[in-house]
This record gives sequence, structure tokens and C-alpha cells, in this order.
Amino acid sequence: MTSRLISALVLGLGATGAVAAPNTKRTSSHAPQLKIISYKETPNGFRSAARGWNSFGIQANPLTTPGWKFDQEHVIEQCDHLAGLPGYDTCSLDSGWSVGGNGDDYGRIMYDEDNFNIPMLADHLHSKGLKLGVYIVPGAFLQDVNKTIINTDVRIGDVCHGDEGLVRCIFDYTQPAVQLWHNSCADLFAKWKVDFVKLDFVTPGSPDNGQHLPADGSGSVIAWHKAIQQSGRKMRLDISWKLDRTEKYFKIWNENADSMRTDQDLNNSQQPTFVSWEVVQRAFDNYRQWIVAGLQYFDHLNIYPDMDNLLVGNNASVSGITDAQRQTVMTHYIGAGANLIIGSDLTHLDKFGLNLLTNKAARDVADFTAQYPMQPRNPGTGGQDAKQLQAWIAGPAPTGKAVVVLANYGPDLGQGGFGGTSSAEQWVSASWEDLGIKGTYRVHDVWNNKDLGKQKSGVKAKLGPGESVLLTLTRA
Ligand SMILES: *[C@@H]1O[C@H](CO)[C@@H](O)[C@H](O)[C@H]1NC(C)=O
Ligand SMILES: *[C@@H]1O[C@H](CO)[C@@H](O)[C@H](O)[C@H]1NC(C)=O
Ligand SMILES: *[C@@H]1O[C@H](CO)[C@@H](O)[C@H](O)[C@H]1NC(C)=O
Repeated sequence: MTSRLISALVLGLGATGAVAAPNTKRTSSHAPQLKIISYKETPNGFRSAARGWNSFGIQANPLTTPGWKFDQEHVIEQCDHLAGLPGYDTCSLDSGWSVGGNGDDYGRIMYDEDNFNIPMLADHLHSKGLKLGVYIVPGAFLQDVNKTIINTDVRIGDVCHGDEGLVRCIFDYTQPAVQLWHNSCADLFAKWKVDFVKLDFVTPGSPDNGQHLPADGSGSVIAWHKAIQQSGRKMRLDISWKLDRTEKYFKIWNENADSMRTDQDLNNSQQPTFVSWEVVQRAFDNYRQWIVAGLQYFDHLNIYPDMDNLLVGNNASVSGITDAQRQTVMTHYIGAGANLIIGSDLTHLDKFGLNLLTNKAARDVADFTAQYPMQPRNPGTGGQDAKQLQAWIAGPAPTGKAVVVLANYGPDLGQGGFGGTSSAEQWVSASWEDLGIKGTYRVHDVWNNKDLGKQKSGVKAKLGPGESVLLTLTRA
């Protein structure tokens, strides 16, 4: 953000409640009442989203990180850097750490000994104050159908049938032995000292990617939650991807998982960069849809959004998005209270990226949005639609504290949902009425560490494409 933009942040115009802003025609708005939604404790006992690093970003875009290989040594190299980032602790492995075609004698997943030793990795990470995450998918291996579930005489093939397309059969979740199989896997993870489990390819959701996933795989989420509970080890359950947001299933996810993926994978398909702005626009819109659905069904959520890997740590030529866009990504992940799981190459963070990830004032905002997620309030109406010029509010908490984000997403590159075409710098302005609040607030610009004084009627900022501001409001 340039200082030109900060000085352009003009606030508190008039006492009428209507903010006169260039390019923004306003009639007296009939903004709907603000429904304040909060996050409460998750099913496995967490009060904030996971923060850490995951290997998928580099795995999907290996040209970003020359010489990298998905093995113990390279993961440790990344996560030793993670240990130096205040507030981040979870070092999570994506697909590829385990043996591909079969499990152990009881059909439980095994680590690929050529590249990983999971208990040793866990010990190393724990010695640095970090936590270990592993990746799994629903079902047992087709190769294991004749093996018996530990401490039973039930063969896996008695309770698991068909082929879901990931070399696994599909469990019949009504069978008690199926829970025992999940318990045995969670017990093994507990023995290895795993702290975080990413369960991918959950349905409904996980739109067809060439697999033959069952229409309703929500039983896997319930079974993993119960299995983690009975294991006695505190582990997070992160479910993926782009999960169904209808009421029935949203409630199941909310009761059983700690975070859920709101979008498909964020990556740049083997490019030498991590992500493109088009994909980021899609990720923001998917979060918007997610929180709008959540507002319909819940007064508080017990699950955090997972917007997928946070790809902001490396310089613009490696991240694939400009510095202003990187800041906008960080702002939206923080505003959402989403998992802050970095996908960047941590061995090459630039100064800008390091500040985005570790800025103390921004982390304080993340602690606030771990309790109050932001929701869209369209400039001029207070509506919830996708807009090129968007405003968001988190809270206010009973103390009067709130967080406001103003953004100009630039032209819709195809997946943003808002269809805007202007690449001009524009005023983005939100009155208190648009935001659904009343009174006088002291406003602070977080990234620029600038006090913007007491404001009585609204906030606005002149923003170029991809730019945004992150503001805290405290009742004056
Ligand atoms: C399981 O056992 C049956 C019966 O012995 C055999 O026909 C089948 O090939 C076995 N399947 C696997 C995957 O080992
Ligand atoms: C990212 O990854 C998914 C599969 O994991 C793929 O379908 C998608 O096309 C990829 N690329 C982009 C630009 O999102
Ligand atoms: C960006 O960072 C990469 C390492 O991630 C480095 O090789 C490259 O020289 C940097 N480019 C610029 C323009 O600073």
C-alpha cells in the first residue's frame, strides 16, 4: 500500500449517515440488519484455526522451489524455518508421504520408508515446538480386503466394497467394525504423535476429479472424529475439498471437523509461480459463499474455513501475484479466521512476505477473527453479493471491537463471481449503515500502522485493482 492510498483514506464525512464518495452514487440505504456470527470451540477442542505450513504448494508447483523433493529432509528444512515464524506451529504433509497401494497387516496406512520416518519426524518437530500433520483419504485399500480389522475377526472386505477410484474401497459406515478400523488408524497416528489430520476427497463436495467417489462420504468425517476422540490425543481434523454447504451437510461438518475447505486446490498447475490472481478471486468468492451459507444456518460456527494454502510468502515473481495482491490475500485469510497454512517456500521468504506472515498487529487481528469471522456487506446496500468493490465486517464483539476490510478486486478474470471489468483506481466506501453498525469508532489501518481517528459515519479508501485495507474499529 502506498502512502498516497493511506492519505486518500478519508473518513467520517458528515453526520447524516450518508457518505458522499466520488464514483459512488448513494441513495439512503435500506441495509439489512447485521447478524453477528461468531466462532466457538471446534469439535476437537480448538479455539482458533490451524497455522503452519503444508507441502502441497511446492508439490503442485515444483518449479517455484528448484532442487526440492518431497521427503523427510526437505520437509524438515521447510519446517525448521516455520519454527522461526511466531504464531505458526503445524508442519503438514500433503499426499505422497505414505505407501500407495496397501496398508499394514491390519489395513492401516504406512509411511513410505524410502522417504519418511513419521515418528522421527514427529519427534523432531515437537522438539522445535511444532506439530505434525498427515494427509489421508476415506476408505481402506483394495489390496487389503482380506486383512482383518485389529482385535476383531471382521475382514475389511466384509464392510468395505467397490472402488472409489483412489485404490480404495468404500466403507459401509453403518457397520460397527468400520468405526473400529478408524479407531485403529487414529490410535496409530496417536502413537506416532500426529497432531493434525487432513482428510481429502470427502463428499458431498470434492467435485468429480476423475474418481468414482460415493455420493455421500460424510460417514468418514463422523468416523474420523469419533476415532480421534477415543484416541486420547488432541488432533485437528481438516476436511477437504469444496465441501457441500447445504444445511444438512454443513451441520455434519460443523459437528465433526475443525476446519473445512471452501474451495478447490489453489495452485498454478506446474508453473514456476504458486498462484494466479484469477484463482485468488475464486478463493475469495468461495469464502463469501461459505460464510453467507453459514449465516443462514448458525448463530455460531464450530468449524473454521480452510481457504487452502496461503501462497503469499515469496516475492511477487515466485508467488505469481503482486505485493499489493499478496497483502490482500493475507488480509482475507485473516479476516475469515481461516487456517493460515502457508504453501510458500519458507526458505526463501522475502522481507515483505515475512512481515505479512508475522506482523504482530495483523496477528492480533487474526486472534480477533478466530472468534468473529468477516462477512460481506456490499458498499451502498449492505448486501452479500459478489462485488468488485467489496466491504467486509467481522464482529463487532460486545466490547465494540470490529474489523473492516475494503477491497477492489480489479476486473473479474473469470472465476470471481462479480463480473466487474474496471481496472481503474476507485473509491471503495462503506457507511456504518452499509456495515450494519452505529456510533463512533476509532479506526486504525493495520498494515500501515496508522491511526485514522474517530469516525462517525463510515470508512472509505481509494484502491487500485487488487488493493485492500485492513481496519480495526474500537468503540470511541
Ligand atoms: C482375497 O481373497 C479371495 C479369496 O481367497 C481372493 O480371491 C482374492 O484375490 C483376495 N484379494 C486380495 C486383494 O488379496
Ligand atoms: C490446481 O490443482 C487441481 C488439482 O489438484 C487442478 O484441478 C487445477 O486445475 C489446478 N490448477 C489451477 C490453476 O487451479
Ligand atoms: C525472488 O525470489 C527467488 C527465490 O524464491 C529468487 O531466486 C529471485 O531472484 C527473486 N526475484 C526477485 C526479483 O527478487
